[in-house]
Amino acid sequence: MDLVSAVEHYDVVVVGGGPVGLASAWHAVRRGARVAVFEQFEFGNERSGTSGAERHWRLQYTEPDLCRLTGEALPLWRDLERASGETLLHAFGSLWFGDVDVATNEGKISETARTMDQLSIPYEWLTASDIERRYGFAHLPRHFEGFVQPDGGAVDVRATVAGLLRLTEAAGCVLRADEPVRELAPDVDGVRLSTPRGRYRADKVVLANGPYANRLLEPLGIRLELNVFEMALVTLRQRDPRARHPFWFVFQEPTEEDTNLFYGFPPNSWQDTDHVRIGPVFEVNALSDPERATGTPDPRHVTRACDWVERHLPLVDPRPLVRSACLAVLPADPERQFFLGTAGGRCTGGENVVIATGGWGFKFVPLLGKVCAQLCLDGATTYDVDRLALPAPTRP
Ligand code: BEZ
Repeated sequence: MDLVSAVEHYDVVVVGGGPVGLASAWHAVRRGARVAVFEQFEFGNERSGTSGAERHWRLQYTEPDLCRLTGEALPLWRDLERASGETLLHAFGSLWFGDVDVATNEGKISETARTMDQLSIPYEWLTASDIERRYGFAHLPRHFEGFVQPDGGAVDVRATVAGLLRLTEAAGCVLRADEPVRELAPDVDGVRLSTPRGRYRADKVVLANGPYANRLLEPLGIRLELNVFEMALVTLRQRDPRARHPFWFVFQEPTEEDTNLFYGFPPNSWQDTDHVRIGPVFEVNALSDPERATGTPDPRHVTRACDWVERHLPLVDPRPLVRSACLAVLPADPERQFFLGTAGGRCTGGENVVIATGGWGFKFVPLLGKVCAQLCLDGATTYDVDRLALPAPTRP
């Protein structure tokens, strides 16, 4: 056999070795599939959405179907915790407050409370005074209200990724770092792939390459309407290291300049630290290409976040210790939240390409992985994710 041109064959190839790609690989390899994961950089890198120690874990969503899905993600997180031997979800509450009727990409406070009522998810409704008294916020506009959902909190990002890496490797999954997939050619029997190091064939491919999805899809005539934003994150010091507040997200009317949304994590409960991380969620200045990311936050966004903290969170010293940035990949249509489904009907062999990209997805990592593995191995999923499927092609 000509070894140079030999084509390796897998049941499933995953493109993108971030948390969703690794979770897909884990769910597929557990079911006996031969799986390879191709990551263009090193595994565990924090270049895309996975930056930093924690991500928000929450049960609440405005959309009832997504709210049900977070509930369905919970046992899958527990399963991953058991398998990895790590605590991954840390529940210290999720506080949403502000203008209750402001519509954002995260949803709307008032409607989310109605969804939680409908699905019997417990929460406590709070006034501005309650929020100030209980959690140390100050000078909140008097009409601000919101809720705290006690089961929310944070996911330990690094332990999740490290656990998935260990589990996939131990289960025999082939993990290829620094090997970008350059070409994807689906056909009725599977998919051909090529990288600078070789040629491969897979029965099914999972595209879990976040902001880079369109690079491989566009040559197939598919373009997902995704916006890529470089969002700032600021590390600050909490003045009283013992004070504990929940994860918080403030919903405010947009300004002329930006979306005026901010969030914050309390000192990370699995590290000995008095640092808090605060971020603006400004969906402004979309990047035409993820390669254009600078890794440096917009100084104006850092100032906006620190000014909000200075005015409303006296518990925290507003002088930034670390300024960082992460890529957020969001569907242009805020109603959609995620892209999850096959490219069936969009190109020849599209049914052999499963796509999971876009959205604030970390809370769904094990569920997204299971759905992708099911779509690859069963051709269908047991989860209600129809609304997240790729839109039908528009006729020219
Ligand atoms: C979320 O809960 O999905 C979220 C939290 C903070 C920033 C962005 C998204």
